[in-house]
Amino acid sequence: MTILTNAEIFVDGELKKLDIALEEDKICALGRNLEGEQRIDCSGKIVLPGLIDVHVHARDLKQSHKEDWESLGRAAIAGGVTTVFAMPNTDPPLDTVERVRDYRRRAQASKINAKVYGAITLGNYKNLEQIAPHVDAFKLYLGETTGHLSVSDKKLHREIFKSVTQTEKILTVHAQRGGDPQDVTRHEADDICYVLDLAAAYKTKLHIAHVTTQRAVEAILEAKRSKVDVSFETCPHYLYFTAKDRESRGAWLKMNPPLATEEDREFLWWALQEGLIDMIATDHAPHTIEEKIVGYAKAPAGVPGIEFLLPLLFDAVNASKLSLGRLVEVCCTNPARRFGLTHKGEIAVGRDADLVVIDPDREKTITRKDVGSRCGWSPYEGLTLRGWPVMVFVGGLKRNPPCAALSNERQN
Ligand code: DOR
Ligand code: ZN
Repeated sequence: MTILTNAEIFVDGELKKLDIALEEDKICALGRNLEGEQRIDCSGKIVLPGLIDVHVHARDLKQSHKEDWESLGRAAIAGGVTTVFAMPNTDPPLDTVERVRDYRRRAQASKINAKVYGAITLGNYKNLEQIAPHVDAFKLYLGETTGHLSVSDKKLHREIFKSVTQTEKILTVHAQRGGDPQDVTRHEADDICYVLDLAAAYKTKLHIAHVTTQRAVEAILEAKRSKVDVSFETCPHYLYFTAKDRESRGAWLKMNPPLATEEDREFLWWALQEGLIDMIATDHAPHTIEEKIVGYAKAPAGVPGIEFLLPLLFDAVNASKLSLGRLVEVCCTNPARRFGLTHKGEIAVGRDADLVVIDPDREKTITRKDVGSRCGWSPYEGLTLRGWPVMVFVGGLKRNPPCAALSNERQN
């Protein structure tokens, strides 16, 4: 049995000074003065449930030069993330039972909890019931992005929504229809309304990926009021950057959907703190430096993000921009609840021992040499953040994030 002592633990919506006992892969007790063979002193630290990132491109396979499961696992631990949902726009794509099963096996190299999306493609949409038992959720691309998996035919969309409903899985949609995905005139809200109507008509459990604008959030909230079964995520890059930053930084900030306005960015922070945003997911989409420096038009869309997820959000907690309770809701409780991870997302007796131990005062500037993701760079380089993970437990096993080595010193 391992006991974490003297920490402030996030339990039942607040921080409490309690010990946590871990037995094998579970939390087996919470209380004062717990006894056990191995004691880890967590004085001055905060313990949260491990973060759950429902939108990650782990790559691997023929794109292992961008990322593979091993490097993704390291980046996730650095960012306080213990569970990921991997997107299926890999090469080759995850659109058959064999590929999904093989990808799951490969995911063990990450040593984190890996859930796997199945792609809905022109090749498999008629037989979703075959692949359904093997996937944790389905992903549908309405338009082109990395991987060429788009399905644009409206008639097929209706069939797909209907069949996914029968599988009882969540359908996550990349809701950018047609045209240039980098078009910033933003028909995001219209495209999202289109899928909301389909989810309403076919009673599909819908999750909308990477929402970037106020109009789109408002459209989703309206649909929720009319009882559409929908959830959505936004991503750290939409909270930290705008289209103006993209003008100066070019391909480094090219992603689909593209960055929005300053008003949208401010709205997202406000909506986050008001509890109107269900989840923060990173859409961690690694592409190498060599791939990004070829000029804006040719560079692939996507930015890495998982590695700094917790620091990016904890810094906002330190700056009183976000409450700790909201952070836990959008990164732990809500993703666990929505995606059916009944043993995760909370610190409680009997739950999985997935934990992140944070030094709330550690301050550090992100540099390129900190990047553990195989892509080798981060859009957050140069940013100084306060509050870093110093210890992470995945299923009771301790993993050291890069900051662990520095636990008694301050680095700048
Ligand atoms: O920017 C993006 N990159 N958006 C996507 O939808 C796909 C992702 C990728 O896989 O690179
Ligand atoms: Zn994505």
